[in-house]
Amino acid sequence: MSAPLQIQDDFSLRRFNTFGVEACARAYLHVTTLGMLDQVRRDAKLASLPRLILGGGSNIVLTRDFDGLVLHVDLRGIEFLDNDGDALRVRAAAGESWHGLVQMTLDRGIGGLENLSWIPGSVGAAPIQNIGAYGVEVGSLIETVSYYDFDSGEVISLDRQSCEFGYRDSVFKHRLKRNAVILDVTFALPLPWTPNLSYAELQRYLFTLDSPANASPANASPTPADVGRAVIEIRSNKLPDPDLIGSAGSFFKNPIVSLMVWSTLEARWPTLVGYPQPDGQVKLAAGWLVEHCGWKGRTLGNVGVYEKQALVLVNLGGGTGEEIMRLASFIQADVEKKFGVFLEPEPLVL
Ligand code: EPU
Repeated sequence: MSAPLQIQDDFSLRRFNTFGVEACARAYLHVTTLGMLDQVRRDAKLASLPRLILGGGSNIVLTRDFDGLVLHVDLRGIEFLDNDGDALRVRAAAGESWHGLVQMTLDRGIGGLENLSWIPGSVGAAPIQNIGAYGVEVGSLIETVSYYDFDSGEVISLDRQSCEFGYRDSVFKHRLKRNAVILDVTFALPLPWTPNLSYAELQRYLFTLDSPANASPANASPTPADVGRAVIEIRSNKLPDPDLIGSAGSFFKNPIVSLMVWSTLEARWPTLVGYPQPDGQVKLAAGWLVEHCGWKGRTLGNVGVYEKQALVLVNLGGGTGEEIMRLASFIQADVEKKFGVFLEPEPLVL
């Protein structure tokens, strides 16, 4: 027989969301085994409660108390599987720290995840929003994602295609939003490793700047760890340190517009930043739009727009989820009025 579940009532979630806002959960369970999920499913009372699945809490805005059961998924374990010559496979449990996993691969000289260094959150959250940075999206490196299905009680494994990865998007934000608890992710890191240095700033850090990431300026062949160090430097120069300032990384997605809209906007604002997409549309730099509405570095009560990156909303201390959403709505209204573009928030809003 399994031990009874240690459900904690009226549980503060402040330490479990990277914005650091206060919100209370009616019930909380620290999930460390698959069996605990089964126990929840078989318990009529617990199974009937609304559920919130929480990993690192790095992509959520809590605007109210949660009258349900929070499942804090903290499954652990990293396994280096096989190397078939085409790819090296690594499986990590959902509760592992994302950056911890990246660092572990880099410490072993394994490349593939380095452009995704220093992203807060857990391994289990990575596929949900298909985290991406510096020209790499995690979906392209994922072989399978396994999840516990609360409907059937089964463990199901999805291949990359079935995960329906898109820009900050996947099947876990849609069809599988309510009933899937991600258990582990298997990565296939292509061999031989080739660095992705498509992002100009990354090249600058690696080859021209006198920086710690640039271990030997004469060496034109950076290692995965060199690239990882450069990414950490770039990120730490423009994103707030998650240990010091509450945020959820980029607050808005970069909006994708038609070529026609892009041409009209660019004619009027020639410094506007946009990236052509494979389908002919253009992804606009939302940070540019927010900055050019005058929001960069501005504060509103206890929350504000980070002074070095206008796409990042921050909790300056004691801020609430409602304050964050109020600030977001002002920014959305201004950007829509000035540029006619809608900014969609990236984090889940509760
Ligand atoms: N920009 C401004 N003002 C700002 C911020 C940005 O003009 O205040 C301009 C920059 O000059 C630059 C462009 O916008 O030309 C892009 O900025 P940046 O390189 O900082 O990237 P981003 O598009 O703002 C995206 C991701 C980040 C990821 C970076 C690097 C989204 C929503 N965000 O940000 O991901 O780290 O690219 O690849 O796609 C996250 O999702 O939480 C995140 C941090």
